[in-house]
Amino acid sequence: MHRHTALDIDSTIELPHGGPMPLFGLGTFRSPAGRQTREAVGWALEIGYRLVDTAALYGNEADVGAAIRESGIPREDVFVTTKLHKDDHGHERALRAFEESLERLGMDYVDLYLIHWPESRRRQDSWDALERILDEGRARAIGVSNYVVPHLQEVLEHGSIPPAVNQIELHPFNYRSRLDVVSLCRENGIAVEGYSPLTKTEKLDDPVVVKIARATGRSPAQVLIRWSLQHGIVTIPKSIDRGRIRENADVFGFELEPDQMARLDALDEDFLTSWDPRRVD
Ligand SMILES: NC(=O)c1ccc[n+]([C@@H]2O[C@H](COP(=O)([O-])OP(=O)(O)OC[C@H]3O[C@@H](n4cnc5c(N)ncnc54)[C@H](OP(=O)(O)O)[C@@H]3O)[C@@H](O)[C@H]2O)c1
Repeated sequence: MHRHTALDIDSTIELPHGGPMPLFGLGTFRSPAGRQTREAVGWALEIGYRLVDTAALYGNEADVGAAIRESGIPREDVFVTTKLHKDDHGHERALRAFEESLERLGMDYVDLYLIHWPESRRRQDSWDALERILDEGRARAIGVSNYVVPHLQEVLEHGSIPPAVNQIELHPFNYRSRLDVVSLCRENGIAVEGYSPLTKTEKLDDPVVVKIARATGRSPAQVLIRWSLQHGIVTIPKSIDRGRIRENADVFGFELEPDQMARLDALDEDFLTSWDPRRVD
């Protein structure tokens, strides 16, 4: 329990390849292209965030890249993730899509490149392309997103190296239902990154979350972020609001007790805010 008190905004986990990855970062899904994303990323970096999660799909890679350059923080001190759009699967298309992402970001490498979504037929061709990108040093680490057990088994069997990361939807309202995926990741040294840690706000008024928030003197969002961190889940709450970006990072001065963690874990109802990858064969 006491090891958690040592967590801070610079805490990292060691990836199986690609070096350390911050445990905490900024999400940017639905962060509008232009000024709003540039400002949000700039504020986050100022506050101490060192991980930014974007994707070709989000349409804001150029703004993420610009904000990082404008921050004056050395490129190597910021961990940048982007993702292969689900319409760009296949070996050649994935290679091209990656180059386009790098161009929009204005970077010569990313820290992590993920397959965004496990399209049925061509995901393994895409994975081969990601392995090439890794070999060329254009991505420091490669991984997957929305992979459930059969998808992970496939890439573990057919790939030359295991993914460094699997990014999946994770919060107390689906954690126990996802333990099969989480355990398989842990057994294979794959880091688990949770998206929609705030349930896209849908469960911020849950009575148990609210009660624990009152008991700890924190906000429901802070409780959910802290829950992720204490489970060793990389977490990337999204906000474009300066106050909420600051609030979401102010989670290193308190600790959830084991019984509070257990009460949160018990909230599982297999709830998903977005796509369900279990329907992809
Ligand atoms: N791989 C994938 O398929 C996938 C899917 C979904 C998400 N993601 C990644 O994960 C990130 C996070 O997930 P998400 O964006 O879906 O949802 P989220 O982080 O759970 O929730 C974001 C929502 O919460 C609001 N919010 C932020 N901080 C708050 C606070 N302290 N109090 C109250 N409301 C708050 C935000 O509004 P404001 O901006 O107005 O603050 C926004 O509406 C994404 O941005 C993206 O980078 C990946």
